[in-house]
Amino acid sequence: MMPYENLENVKAEVRDGILYVTIDRPKVLNALNGQTVEEIYKVFAEGRDDANVKAVILTGGGEKAFVAGADINELAQKSPITGKETSERGQFILSFIERFPKIVIAAINGFALGGGCELALACHIRIASEKAQLGLPEVTLGIIPGYGGTQRMARLLGKGKALELVCTGDRIGAADAEKIGLVNRVVPADQLMGTCEEMAKKIMSRGPLAIRAAIEAVNNGLEMPFEEGQFLEATLFGLLCASEDTKEGMRAFLEKRAANFQGK
Ligand code: COA
Repeated sequence: MMPYENLENVKAEVRDGILYVTIDRPKVLNALNGQTVEEIYKVFAEGRDDANVKAVILTGGGEKAFVAGADINELAQKSPITGKETSERGQFILSFIERFPKIVIAAINGFALGGGCELALACHIRIASEKAQLGLPEVTLGIIPGYGGTQRMARLLGKGKALELVCTGDRIGAADAEKIGLVNRVVPADQLMGTCEEMAKKIMSRGPLAIRAAIEAVNNGLEMPFEEGQFLEATLFGLLCASEDTKEGMRAFLEKRAANFQGK
């Protein structure tokens, strides 16, 4: 079977080395029901093993939303057991995205709320349109974020800002999100995709093994004591020294030409 097929709520296509993933249920602002979350996982699992994929851009279908959260119709049916299972499954899938070995950029084109904000937090880089609004409104429903949001928000923003956002449930605009580091950059809506593509292409031109090691070093290092993080860094650094790409990168510099990395 061809990859990226049999999908109902997610669109996926590869163009020029970029896997474009669009969560596409615009009638409900791309809310994440169980099926959609599984389709996201399927696309990322296939993309990880697809040599044609060098980077991912993740966005929401329609004009209004990136993703407006978990599907509240489904959430309303959860028992303590199925609620915990749903949370654990979502956490697993978002961690899979966070550990993806190629760069994942969230193109936040509108509302990124609840599970949608958590999904953006799992991406490596977040670029927002000026009309984006972000937040974790779960407490307004009497629950808390369940897809890693309490953890990633605190790690990204620090405890104070994270607790403010999680406990007020307030939505903030793109400019405020940039100010506190929740998004990397804000651009006019019509420049969102172009900006994401430019950043993806820049990163794709770098050594792919180096990008993979950088993602691993930052992700894993943050969860370790500093000295262990440094040990991991040195080990990955040493490993890269054995790669053909490292030799090519250095040679290209000395020969004053662009490097031609092979990911080997
Ligand atoms: N789950 C299920 N359906 C959702 C949804 C969600 N998370 N978010 C939006 N929708 C649906 C709405 O029910 C509505 O459906 P309808 O047309 O059948 O009434 C449709 O999407 C459009 O949303 P609407 O509320 O009419 O748009 P709006 O522009 O007035 O408001 C929001 C936009 C994002 C502010 C509002 O939809 C909202 O607050 N959504 C819930 C956000 C949330 O709490 N997410 C966290 C879940 S844990």
